[in-house]
Amino acid sequence: MSALSKFGANPQGGVSRVAYSEADLQGRAYAISLMKDAGLDVHVDAAGNIAGARPGSDPALKPLLLGSHIDSVPMGGNYDGDVGSLSAIEVAQILRESNVTLRHPLEVLIFQNEEGGTIGSQALGEGLSDAQLNRISQSGKTIREGIRLVGGDPDRLAAARRQPGSIAGYFELHVEQGGRLEREKIDIGVVEGIVGILQSEVTIEGFANHAGTTPMDQRHDALLSAARFIEKVNQVVTSMPGAQVGTVGWVKAEPGAYNVIPGKVTLGLEVRDLDEQKFTGLFHRLQSEAEALGQLNQTRFHFSEPVVNHPALTDNGMRRLIDDAARSLGFSTRSMPSGAGHDAQEIARLGPIGMIFVPSIGGISHSPKEFSRPQDIENGANVLLRAVLAFDKR
Ligand code: GLV
Ligand code: MN
Ligand code: MN
Repeated sequence: MSALSKFGANPQGGVSRVAYSEADLQGRAYAISLMKDAGLDVHVDAAGNIAGARPGSDPALKPLLLGSHIDSVPMGGNYDGDVGSLSAIEVAQILRESNVTLRHPLEVLIFQNEEGGTIGSQALGEGLSDAQLNRISQSGKTIREGIRLVGGDPDRLAAARRQPGSIAGYFELHVEQGGRLEREKIDIGVVEGIVGILQSEVTIEGFANHAGTTPMDQRHDALLSAARFIEKVNQVVTSMPGAQVGTVGWVKAEPGAYNVIPGKVTLGLEVRDLDEQKFTGLFHRLQSEAEALGQLNQTRFHFSEPVVNHPALTDNGMRRLIDDAARSLGFSTRSMPSGAGHDAQEIARLGPIGMIFVPSIGGISHSPKEFSRPQDIENGANVLLRAVLAFDKR
């Protein structure tokens, strides 16, 4: 963990290792070296994911996949993605050291650009649209450029696609990123399902004008409309029962000067829930609320075509394997939903998935203050190993 955390380390702690950055390339090179040391046959697929294979003894069986990601959000922590990635490699390493050959072929996958919308794992499952490939990522490069940079080939993405039913299963270990396990003093979370996520870039067109000479009742202030909209997102999302969430995570006002009324604002809207119909409905409601808000000061809202990560349920049998593995090691468990997105939700299109959570101290994530205790990480990795062995015996 500490070796990986050097790549993209922030002076304030944590990492900024956004996909397709120099730090990402360094982290990936380090992960590849670990995977080779673990005896895996490593290659970068056409989508830029790092894949390491270990043969099984029964050629008739489909592969069992383990994985996560090592890219981070800007000013992120050292645990989100890294814990699951390094533990998956560790499982391969232990199998090698113990001379254990599984019946299933094993594949360790380090997915590229999870934080930018589960891009690498989506390339395996649903595939990537042109709109996604042209989207600008946090690195400033388009996804298409990024895929090329990390050693993939955006013109041959079909080669990375896998067919539904082509895998035996997929396990992912991850930090909880919420505070429930710590609060309830539970060792291991068994994930029931992963939320779906809808993101849309909202543009508000007003009219830039002099901030001193334009009377208050004659302004088309795009930032005022944005402020009203942000308030409305909170109101609408909290107006119904349930665990749905909605966020405006970034705002850009132009031209951006003390003495100019903002003529244009762009902002990032996100809504999440386990129920796709529910979050799609919320999005449509926000679109009509925005139209009404715009009329108040004659500004115009435009919503970009939403990008959606579909929600996914985990597999009942794999949940049971995880729970049994944890209990056999003496750990307490609880089942719980995941409010964060994960590569597992894309891989769910290909076959059964199971996810293991370990506690996040203070429930803090996507922050340099993200922390999970070494003992909890070790517990999670041991549960992952046991669950893999049990899966293989079934
Ligand atoms: C990924 O971390 C997400 O939930 O946005
Ligand atoms: Mn993650
Ligand atoms: Mn994350």
